[in-house]
Amino acid sequence: MTAFSNRYQWPDAGLFEIPDWVYTDPEIYDREVERIFHGPTWNYVALEAEIPNPGDFQRSFVGPTPVVVTRDGEDEINVFLNRCGHRASEFCREQRGNAKLLICPYHQWSYDLKGNLVGVPFRRGLAGRGGLARDFDMAAHSPRRLAVTRRGGVVFASFDADAPPLESYLGPVMTAEFDATFDGRPLELHGYYRNTVPGNWKLYHENLKDPYHATLLHSFLVTFGLFVAGNRSAMLADESGLHGAIASAKRASTDHVSEEAKGEMRAFHEDFALQAPEIMEFVDEFDSEWSVTMQTIWPNLIVQREMNTLGIRQIVPRGPHEFAMHWTMFGYAGDDEAMRRHRLRQGNLMGPAGFLGMEDNEAIKFVQDGMKRSRPGHHAVALEPELEAGATDCVISEAAIRAMYRGWREIMGLAS
Ligand SMILES: [Fe+2]
Repeated sequence: MTAFSNRYQWPDAGLFEIPDWVYTDPEIYDREVERIFHGPTWNYVALEAEIPNPGDFQRSFVGPTPVVVTRDGEDEINVFLNRCGHRASEFCREQRGNAKLLICPYHQWSYDLKGNLVGVPFRRGLAGRGGLARDFDMAAHSPRRLAVTRRGGVVFASFDADAPPLESYLGPVMTAEFDATFDGRPLELHGYYRNTVPGNWKLYHENLKDPYHATLLHSFLVTFGLFVAGNRSAMLADESGLHGAIASAKRASTDHVSEEAKGEMRAFHEDFALQAPEIMEFVDEFDSEWSVTMQTIWPNLIVQREMNTLGIRQIVPRGPHEFAMHWTMFGYAGDDEAMRRHRLRQGNLMGPAGFLGMEDNEAIKFVQDGMKRSRPGHHAVALEPELEAGATDCVISEAAIRAMYRGWREIMGLAS
């Protein structure tokens, strides 16, 4: 056992209890950045539709680390650190735009679209004095380039040039689910949300590997029949346990909710009705048996396919106690006006203040606060004890959370 794993002892209950230091300890967080976000993982950075033309660029993040995503004159997509080779400043200041050169505002050192340092003002000094040494190595002072891969119009980056191909990284089940949304139809951007969540970044993954809460926390979801205990649903997971998808098939009405389920769900309001029921319409346009899937792609991406409202959520961690959520909402370029209206209207379900997005942020804050402020220092993920970890079709389960921690412990060198 290494010194590190000696210091961080997992409770005796194994995966069925998670220690609070997993979410609160700064050393654990630093190790996550190094081994996960800067390790052999594929991190979402952009949609190709955001940078459709040569010269287009956009700022993004890999874990907490700022990067620039560009499309160069050869139609290649480049991802490099947003860190000036001079004084480390985040030189690309504009969120997105089109340019031939990216120029640091501080001393105007300039970079081409592949991230090469190409210009240094007064490089030879002035009147024969000052400036840089003759043998100053421009390439050595260019920002670090990341490996890039794309699929279905989605761009991923990795610090590790030896990261496995995306398809094997995701595995067959997750790849098929990803392809149901990114099926080759060109995407059309609808807009952005950003919010900050005062909790550990992994809690967002857990929230989407936790079908149990969906039937209890989300009044809207339950009352209007999107996800009710008794609906056909599944909690999918890949072999590593790190990726997952919570999937459900929508009911036509809430008429068939069993009396037993109703009795357990305080959030269920039988006498509520929508004044604009069209918000819940589902146009079946996907090659999938599910009308709703929330896919968690390790470590920083959620693909939201909530009926016809589509979105990306990018997790940007900011230390153990906080993360930013960057949402990108989209449809397909071929949508007619009615479909575009439908997606935008249905988009009210989601976002930081969405009809069923809002409560998750609050719940994550409650969990983080609880861990920060009180003992015993570990808590239970014990539902569905008959399955240690993995995919399940049982709603009242935390087996997918346990699967994620089995994978996490291995990466972190904390497996017992
Ligand atoms: Fe939720």
